[in-house]
Amino acid sequence: MCGIIGYTGNKSVVDILIDGLRQLEYRGYDSSGIAVKCDNDVKVYKAEGKLENLCNVLSNHKGEFETATCGIGHIRWATHGAPTVLNAHPHTCTCGHLAIVHNGIIENYKELREKLSSEGCTFRSQTDTEVVAHLVARKYAQTKNLTEAVRMAAKELEGAYALCVMHNDYKNTIVATKRNAPLLVGIGEGEFFAASDVPAIIKHTNRAMYLNDNEIVTLTPDKMTLINSDAMELAPKIEVLPWEPVALSKMGYKHFMLKEIHEQPDVIRNILVGKLHAPDEEIVLNEVKLTKETLRHLHRIQIIACGTSLHAAMVGKYLIENFCGIPVDVEASSEYIYRRTVTDKHTLVIGVSQSGETADTLTAIKQSKEKGSHILIITNRPDSAMARLADSLISVNAGIEVSVAATKSYIAQLMAFYLLALYMAEVKECVDLGMLTTLKTEMMLLPQKVERILANTDDIQKCARRYAATKDFIYIARGINYPTALEGALKLKEISYINATGYPAGELKHGPIAMLDETMPVLSILMNGCVYEKLLSNSEEAKARNARMIALTNSKDEKLNDLFDSIIRVPDVIELFSPVIAMVPLQLLAYYIAEFLGKDVDQPRNLAKSVTVE
Ligand code: F6R
Repeated sequence: MCGIIGYTGNKSVVDILIDGLRQLEYRGYDSSGIAVKCDNDVKVYKAEGKLENLCNVLSNHKGEFETATCGIGHIRWATHGAPTVLNAHPHTCTCGHLAIVHNGIIENYKELREKLSSEGCTFRSQTDTEVVAHLVARKYAQTKNLTEAVRMAAKELEGAYALCVMHNDYKNTIVATKRNAPLLVGIGEGEFFAASDVPAIIKHTNRAMYLNDNEIVTLTPDKMTLINSDAMELAPKIEVLPWEPVALSKMGYKHFMLKEIHEQPDVIRNILVGKLHAPDEEIVLNEVKLTKETLRHLHRIQIIACGTSLHAAMVGKYLIENFCGIPVDVEASSEYIYRRTVTDKHTLVIGVSQSGETADTLTAIKQSKEKGSHILIITNRPDSAMARLADSLISVNAGIEVSVAATKSYIAQLMAFYLLALYMAEVKECVDLGMLTTLKTEMMLLPQKVERILANTDDIQKCARRYAATKDFIYIARGINYPTALEGALKLKEISYINATGYPAGELKHGPIAMLDETMPVLSILMNGCVYEKLLSNSEEAKARNARMIALTNSKDEKLNDLFDSIIRVPDVIELFSPVIAMVPLQLLAYYIAEFLGKDVDQPRNLAKSVTVE
């Protein structure tokens, strides 16, 4: 949800800002802008749409900023105001001497705007951010000190923000602060960076300081000064980031999404390393810090997540209840946080988030932590705000996911739940040893089975071409694959904009069946197991209403040829692991349909990878 970057040093700032914004494009991409200190002026350049448009604007002004070495930049995901040039950041105060970039939402912006307008400030945009530019400028007029102005202004802001500010009176200074939004400072030789996320700076340095809420940092090329909201100086806590420079290469694939789908066999192998050595050995999950005694007597689990992570959580519920007999509630974080939720120190709360930044999940986790629950976080970002709140942390190690639609991080989250559920079953001694060995053997075979799917995608591509023109799509499944139906439909919606819905197949006849006719494709996730026959009957019901039937199946049953118009076959697998095997073709189906329709697969409209606003 918006990416910000700041730089002060001795290099050409525009290149650094643009490159940094490119690494942050996953956070939003509907407009962008930079402000740079050019001799005695802060100059602002902005463009609507993709970052390329900003590059084009800049190429017409090259002579103006060649020597500039200090600046701030922003890539936007619009919340307040349409994605236009006027609403793009940086925003400036009335006289244009102060520029600001912001990630987050200023909740009291209306009151502030009214007050500042009545005091003579001229507003040019519809954004919440612009009030911050005017507010800081007012404080600066009183104090003549930029750090102090930011500190005083921050006290009047409500909501979430990460801010970078610069001013004409300062040759090469950036002031940054944050509350409930990510911001880190990169420390180079004679240079400092401020950024929403590591990929924007890792090329330049792996030494960094994560800002805590309400801290204010002042950066010049040779100095970093950190204070708290009471203006007391703090000692910066510098860390070495466990990151390699990020190679954001498509490796020959047309899109990052396709590359990331193809990385999934290795993603599965990676998460198993060190945790599952052999089928007859116990799972090692040192990441879980609850004592075995506590785990044995745990009587309740809540899992909180959003979107794709929520679907992984639903599979997790199924697994934990199935293997361990512990009741599990799964809830969308956004629903969890605005009601009286019953949780306590006897409840294990699991937060699932690929980014570790999602505002709703973060708030939900904070709430349950305050109530004394043990917090287990499953994330692809062990350096994230959510990971920092964890009492136990399972890092899914999927590697950076560039495409906005989550694929490999989902499969990695599923794997984390398999490991967790089986680990808990071993601790509780509630699953027969022979069965555990069979399950672990199957788990170790998953990478090869996924490889087999990826090696032959002809049927999936054929299906994509056949159904690409449809306006609506229904996915049905039962049991452990109901979340697969939801996730398959979500993938299709996100990147092709086709209206796709996942249903538990038994629910079809309670309403949705009214929509079925010869125009409606119904994709049935028909995996061998306890609900196979039931789902077959539900598919017959849909066929009887003339729906266009597609099966995704590991069954060898010949009679499926009569029932289904298209069949996507996958390798056989134990039912409990079928969500992994079934999901990969559904990711590919969504991908090929979107690609066939010529959609922007990696950066679908209106979306951002990291949702840091509630
Ligand atoms: C869909 C997708 C989103 C995210 C959701 C939660 O492809 O990526 O639905 O899953 O925004 O994000 P995280 O997992 O970062 O908390």
